[in-house]
Amino acid sequence: MEKLTGLKKTKTAVFISGKGSNLKNLINFTKIKNTPISIDLIVSNTHLAKGLKFANQFKIKKKIFNFKNPENTEKKILLLLKKEKIKFICLAGFMKILSKEFIRKFNGVIINIHPSLLPKYKGINTHNRAIKNKDKFAGCTVHYVTAKLDSGEKVLQRKVKITAEDNPASLAKKVLKQEHKLYPAAIMKIFN
Ligand code: GAR
Repeated sequence: MEKLTGLKKTKTAVFISGKGSNLKNLINFTKIKNTPISIDLIVSNTHLAKGLKFANQFKIKKKIFNFKNPENTEKKILLLLKKEKIKFICLAGFMKILSKEFIRKFNGVIINIHPSLLPKYKGINTHNRAIKNKDKFAGCTVHYVTAKLDSGEKVLQRKVKITAEDNPASLAKKVLKQEHKLYPAAIMKIFN
């Protein structure tokens, strides 16, 4: 794995599947002074991802892959990443699982933001499960992406309190707010 430091901004791709609030937040983060990354590519597995609008708004290259044939698709994505000299991938609400071959072949670092206090609640429906289990806290985690789902080394984590009034939707909202603080902080930590 190449070390991600130096004076030049690291070319980054953000992978999304949905609203893209984390993407927008990361784009804003790249506008601040001393930010270590530039976002040069947005990848989505669906043209329905609302977050794709930020590609137009901020004039960032976007590419949609339908993943009908995942193996083939991943090969195409790897070629594109190479062409664009991408060295860092931020998964931000990307709902496809990348294969271990993809992770191995990508010549850079991949991180993900997950809406739970990992190792608790890997996978989906995290807020539902936290409430059902009567947990006192929920939260979010930024971690390195490895071949095992939601299991790579943790970079940073933030907690939120679950109150008696919370339902999965209200909790998701509270956690998302923390995600927007966590993701830039995790990137700063990686590059320092
Ligand atoms: C975020 O809560 C993110 O943590 C979650 O999807 C949401 C995307 O929101 N990711 C996962 O569940 C990945 N397993 P956004 O599109 O507004 O950034």
